[in-house]
Amino acid sequence: MTLPLQIDYALALSEGIGPRAKVGAGHLSEEQPRFLAGLQRVLEKVRSGELGFWSLPQDEPLVDQLEAFRNTLPTEIRDVLVLGIGGSSLGARAVIHALTDPAENERPAENERPAQNGGAQGKALRIHFPDNSDPWLLSALLSELSPSSTVAIAISKSGGTVETAASLLVVRQWLQRELAASASKHLVAITDPERGPLRALANEEGWSSFEVPANVGGRFSVLSAVGLLPAQLAGIDIRALLQGARDMASVCERETLVQNPAGILAALHALHHRADRPIHVLMPYADALRPFAAWYVQLWAESLGKRLNTRGEVVEVGPTPVPAVGATDQHAQGQLFMEGPRDKLITFVSVKHPPRDLAIPESTGDYAYLGGKTLGALLDAERRGTAEALARDGRPSLTVEIDRLDGYNLGALLFVYEAATAIAGELYEVNAFDQPGVEEGKRLASGLMGRPGYEDAAAEITRAEASRPANCRFCG
Ligand code: PA5
Repeated sequence: MTLPLQIDYALALSEGIGPRAKVGAGHLSEEQPRFLAGLQRVLEKVRSGELGFWSLPQDEPLVDQLEAFRNTLPTEIRDVLVLGIGGSSLGARAVIHALTDPAENERPAENERPAQNGGAQGKALRIHFPDNSDPWLLSALLSELSPSSTVAIAISKSGGTVETAASLLVVRQWLQRELAASASKHLVAITDPERGPLRALANEEGWSSFEVPANVGGRFSVLSAVGLLPAQLAGIDIRALLQGARDMASVCERETLVQNPAGILAALHALHHRADRPIHVLMPYADALRPFAAWYVQLWAESLGKRLNTRGEVVEVGPTPVPAVGATDQHAQGQLFMEGPRDKLITFVSVKHPPRDLAIPESTGDYAYLGGKTLGALLDAERRGTAEALARDGRPSLTVEIDRLDGYNLGALLFVYEAATAIAGELYEVNAFDQPGVEEGKRLASGLMGRPGYEDAAAEITRAEASRPANCRFCG
């Protein structure tokens, strides 16, 4: 089988770029036992049902349910508001941005909008992600959209996330004002199967709802209803997405490190981190993958940045993931990558056959050399040039290549990164599936917003703020 994804890591090893790489093929071989033990622990959790994301691509019945749901939506629906944050939003956004025509979301709602990339029949809906509690985007959307042609999907595994709850209440009131009782036909919940306030509200008001499986965490949920429902409504072929992920799931179970793409990604990053490269840049040379880089940042940071290791010792460990996009960031962060501290491992993502290309017209004078080439060829030349320039200076990089931007290849890419994160958790010796730091911030913010049961948190924060030195403030 030709794999939908290739990884070229010659430029990440001293064999490819010389001793300054500080990591060689021998290190990868030495990592094999640690990798295998880690992989086995991950797969054991998969088999015992503790870890759910690995099995999500098998869930074909969910696709049938989502398709059936699509057919129950009022025919006038044109717009979808996705109300979620973090793992409850970034995956869907990455998929939709990668696989839909960039002009589609801008097209007036009344125009015909065909399904994309072989997606479900019926019109593709416009999907909006007001995922911040900053009112700027949500208020603009609510003044532009019409309640009768909008459906809101509230996505929250816990159901208690304050940002999502607040946006939901605003949108629910906006729908109810115009639609009264039928507003409930325009509200959908994706949340825990049984617990939490979002589940309770959806049940009470009779909304349609889907599950975030109890054993799937937010940032690993893109291939559950969390990512699939918005993608399906955008007209994306979600069966292909799952097929790509399924094909890679078996490849990511391979026990030989250098034959396992997730293992290679995890091990190279862990080895380079141990060689004083804690900054991990993901730089797709494709605008369509910009939100994929944001998704990766959350996945890598929230999974691997931990105070305690698996033995409960304080380690305060974790890489710092940095998103970039080529060629744009060559003119922003490029200087730093080329000449700044040698603390980075850069991963380029390349799309072999870009979905669109533009021929550069013939011209005379200084620009003549560009005539007859394409913008796609230029982008690829920029990537190869950057990798080569880094390599010449002993700065490591690797390239993940997918054949094209379609559901199948993207599903493969998403799954490999999720599996790599799970394996990296083992190599960093941390629990990749909790987020105690995020929970603490959520607790304090809930207290400040007056949530019952969080009174202590509110008092803690007011006390701490009052105790700060008053003379460290510039007041004009
Ligand atoms: O990956 C995670 O677990 C987090 O980023 C959550 O997705 C995020 O905090 C939102 O949580 P919830 O889905 O419970 O609203």
